[in-house]
Amino acid sequence: MSSGTKIAGISLNSYTFNASGVNDSTFEELEIIANSASPAIIMKSCTLEPKKGNNEPRYIRLPFGSIQCMGLPNLGYREYIKFASRLKKYKKPIIASVAGLHFSDYQTLVEAFQKSDIDLIEVNLSCPNIEGKSQIAYDIGLAEDILARIWKIGKKPIGLKLPPYYDSAHQEDMAELIRRFNVSFITCINSVGNTLVIDTETETTVIKPKKGLGGLCGDYIKPIALANARNFYELLNKEGDKVSIIGCGGIKSGSDAFEFLLAGADAVQVGTAFEKEGPSCFKRINKELESILERKGYKNIQEAKGRLKYL
Ligand code: DHB
Repeated sequence: MSSGTKIAGISLNSYTFNASGVNDSTFEELEIIANSASPAIIMKSCTLEPKKGNNEPRYIRLPFGSIQCMGLPNLGYREYIKFASRLKKYKKPIIASVAGLHFSDYQTLVEAFQKSDIDLIEVNLSCPNIEGKSQIAYDIGLAEDILARIWKIGKKPIGLKLPPYYDSAHQEDMAELIRRFNVSFITCINSVGNTLVIDTETETTVIKPKKGLGGLCGDYIKPIALANARNFYELLNKEGDKVSIIGCGGIKSGSDAFEFLLAGADAVQVGTAFEKEGPSCFKRINKELESILERKGYKNIQEAKGRLKYL
């Protein structure tokens, strides 16, 4: 039994890989992912120029997840293009994640990665942690402007990292853009932005940037992520497989991954659990998922995908 799958026509030899943003900024970190059971390597969201990110503390573990306000610390896209060439020898799909600070940045970033050794581009329209900037994908007009500029550049599949939506009208608007601009895959969801955690001992916020507001990750957000994966699956896969869905948010066991599979996800990404457990999480989660599938008599991922039943 294998949990092999495909996203945007590209084969992955198992279902669970790393989420952008966790221990994937430097070449050394990316090599750890390359040497793990993660079937793909996604890199940290990058900007045009290198960025140090926000002041610390900016990432805090919580009992059921984490809160983070990193502020896009990254080495700048030119480094990640070089890293991609050096990672090719691992023979795993390499995914760039791009994040513009201005909407015109996206065009430059996508143009550069279209000419590089990466296999897929995840366009991050949902970073919640830049002071004074909203999450792009909450502004459908701005998202449309960006997609109009990037959708015809090059042949490598483009996907979107989406923020959580809490209303089906917003998901329908975004699904319409996704169809119109031939988006190949979507990742649902980014962290739940602008949440507040308070330490009652110190009577302070637990992180320093943005008056303590940060993206919430881990178990807390799994039901929100599942609802987004499911709703987009229903909106985008009515006539056969068109847009691959990647689930992200609170996956730390094979059972969590199986929930996303039932909801309709073609693959899942792991962030907080990777930060807590290290690179062994990929093998463990994939094995747990495979034994659930075996026990339930499913022969492969495809057979179980989207099979959620309603009461
Ligand atoms: C950061 C956080 C995100 O949720 C994201 O999508 C990109 C970057 C950050 O703060 O570095």
